[in-house]
Amino acid sequence: MPKIRVLPKHIADLIAAGEVVERPASVIKELMENSIDAGATSLTVEIKRGGVTYMRVTDNGCGIAREDIANAFKSHATSKVESEEDLLSIGTLGFRGEALASIAAVSKVEILTCPPDEDIGTIYKIEGSEEKLIDDAGCPKGTTIIVRDIFFNTPARMKFLKKDVTEGNSVAAVVDRLAMSHPEISIRFIRDDKQVLVTKGDGKLSGAVYSVFGKDFTNTLVETEYELDGINVSGLLALPVAARANRAMQFFFLNGRLVKSITAQAALEQAYKNSIMVGRFPACVLNIETPLEFVDVNVHPSKTEVRFENEKRVFDAVYYAVKSAIDEKDRPNKIDLTMMNLQKEQQPFAKETSKKYEQTSMPELPKRNENFWATKLPEPQKSEPVPQRKDPEPPKEYRRAAEATPGPVKVQEQPEAEQKEPVPDYRVVGEAFETYIIVECEGKILLIDKHAAHERMLFEKLKSEAEPVKSQVLLTPQTVTLSKEEYSAVLSNAEVLKDAGFDIGDFGAGTVVVREVPVMLIDDDITALVEEMAGYLLDSKDPVPEKLDWIYHNTACRAAIKGGDKTTRYELDDFVGKLLSNPQIRYCPHGRPVLIEMSRTDLEKQFGRIV
Ligand SMILES: Nc1ncnc2c1ncn2[C@@H]1O[C@H](COP(=O)(O)OP(=O)(O)OP(=O)(O)O)[C@@H](O)[C@H]1O
Ligand SMILES: [Mg+2]
Repeated sequence: MPKIRVLPKHIADLIAAGEVVERPASVIKELMENSIDAGATSLTVEIKRGGVTYMRVTDNGCGIAREDIANAFKSHATSKVESEEDLLSIGTLGFRGEALASIAAVSKVEILTCPPDEDIGTIYKIEGSEEKLIDDAGCPKGTTIIVRDIFFNTPARMKFLKKDVTEGNSVAAVVDRLAMSHPEISIRFIRDDKQVLVTKGDGKLSGAVYSVFGKDFTNTLVETEYELDGINVSGLLALPVAARANRAMQFFFLNGRLVKSITAQAALEQAYKNSIMVGRFPACVLNIETPLEFVDVNVHPSKTEVRFENEKRVFDAVYYAVKSAIDEKDRPNKIDLTMMNLQKEQQPFAKETSKKYEQTSMPELPKRNENFWATKLPEPQKSEPVPQRKDPEPPKEYRRAAEATPGPVKVQEQPEAEQKEPVPDYRVVGEAFETYIIVECEGKILLIDKHAAHERMLFEKLKSEAEPVKSQVLLTPQTVTLSKEEYSAVLSNAEVLKDAGFDIGDFGAGTVVVREVPVMLIDDDITALVEEMAGYLLDSKDPVPEKLDWIYHNTACRAAIKGGDKTTRYELDDFVGKLLSNPQIRYCPHGRPVLIEMSRTDLEKQFGRIV
C-alpha cells in the first residue's frame, strides 16, 4: 500500500503556483491587478524577452508597510478579505491572497515599496519562496515589483513556454485589456526597451481604445450607455459594417474586471443578429456594472469566470444596450471601394453566408406579372410619427417580452415612421441581371440587390405592424395534411402563428386548416408554405420571439420579389424611392448587405481620371 504523507511546503507551494502562474502574462495580470487595487493612477509595465527573463510593474498606489511585506508573499495572505461575508461582495480584483506567494514560488522577486506617509521605503527579495533580503531603501511612493527568471526552479514548466515573441504578445494582450478596463489609470507598456503603449488616464474609454487599437478600429465604434434594473451597461460597439471574422475583438468588463461571459456574448450577438452577415461577429468594449452581491467571482482560480445571480437580467441589459445603440446610430450605408475590396478579401465568409442563405431561402416561385411591389411595399406617408424613445428604460412591451420568455427576447423594431428621411435626388439607371438595380444618387452609384432589399423591407413591416400581423381571410379555407409530428408542432404553436398572421386550426387526423394568412402572402402556395413552417416548428427549440422572427423571415422571403423576376421601370423607380427613404434598410434579414455604393471620386480614380 502506498504511504500517504503531507507534502513539504515548497512542493505544495509549487503545485499551488501552477494554478495562478501559467506564463509571464499571468504574472503581469496579477501584478497589474494588485496595482489597480492599490488605487494607482499611473502604472508602468516593462518586460524583456517576452517577460521570461524580466518583468517590472511600477505603480503610485498605497504601497505596503514594512511589517506586512513578508506576509504579502505568504499563501492566503490578503488585505482584501476579512470575513466570510466579504466573499459575497468582492469589490477588488484580488481576493484569494495567492498571487504574490505563487509568483515568488516560481521566480526571483524583488519589491521596492513605500506608502505615501512614510519617508523610507523597503526593499525585499524572495527567490523560489525563500526570503533573501529585507532592508531600508530610498524609493518613490508606491510599489515596484520586478520578477526575473520565471520557472528557474521548475524546468519542466519552463519547457512549456512558447517563443519569447509569443509570450510577449500574450503579455501585451493582458496590458491592452487592463488599459481598456481602467481608462482612469494612465498605463505605459515598454517591451524590450521600446514604449509600445501609453494611455492618458483621463477616464475616456474611447481614448484608451484608440491608444490600444488605433484609429481605424476606433472610427468604427459608437457609444452606448444603458441602465436596466440596477445593471449599467456602457461602452463602445463596432458598427455592423465593421463586423469581424471571429470574437477576438469582443471585450467585456464586469465591475472593472475582464471576464468571459457567455451570457453577455450571446446578448451582444443576438442584438446584432439581423444586421451582420452570418459567420461574422460584432466587436465591442463593454463595461457591465452590477451591484457587487449580484456576481460570484470566486468560481475559478483565474478569476475570469463569473456567475450571475440572475443571468437573464444581465442578458437583457446587454441586449438592450446594444440594440438601442445600433438601431439609433447605424445610419446609411457607406460602403466605398475600399470596403468593397475588403469584402473581396472576405470571400470565404461571403461563401459561407450564401450557403446558409440558400438553406434558409425559399424555392424560386413562379414569376409575377402584376404590379406587385406597389401593392406590397410599406406606405411611409400613412404611418403616424411615433415619438423617439428617450427614456433609457425599455418600453413596457419590451419588458413584458423580457419577463415572459427565457433567453433571447423580441425587441419591437423602431416604428417605420421614425426612420423616414427625405428621399435624396436619384435616378434609376437600370437593372443588371434582373437582380441588381443601378442608381445614380448624389454623386454616387448605388447597386441594390432587389430581392434582399425588398425582403428586408417586408420583414421590417411585419415586425413593426401592430400585433397580430395584418392578415386576410382566405376565400376558401385550405386544408394541408402533415406528418403527425409536424401536425402537432403546428397546432401547439397556433398562438405564435396567429401573432405572425396565420390562422391555422385542427382539421383532425393529421390535417390542419388554414383560414387566414398575412396579406402579403395571399397569392402564395399555401400548402408549400405550411409544410415549410411545420418542418421548422418541429425541429426548432427556439424560444417564442425567435420563432416569430423565423416566420417573419420566411414570410418576407416568400413575398419578396426574386432575383430574375421582371420588373418595370416604373416599379423600380417606386421601389428605390421607398428604399432610400428608409436608411435603416441596410442588410437583408439574413445579414447580407442590400446596397453597396461607389462614389464618383472612387470611380474616377479607378479610371485614372484623377489620382
Ligand atoms: N502593488 C501593490 N500595492 C500595494 N499593496 C499590494 C500590492 N501588491 C500586493 N499588495 C498587497 O499584498 C497582498 C497580497 O497580494 P496578492 O496578489 O498575493 O493577493 P490578493 O491581491 O489579495 O489576492 P489575489 O491572490 O486574488 O490576487 C494584497 O492583499 C495587498 O495588500
Ligand atoms: Mg492580487
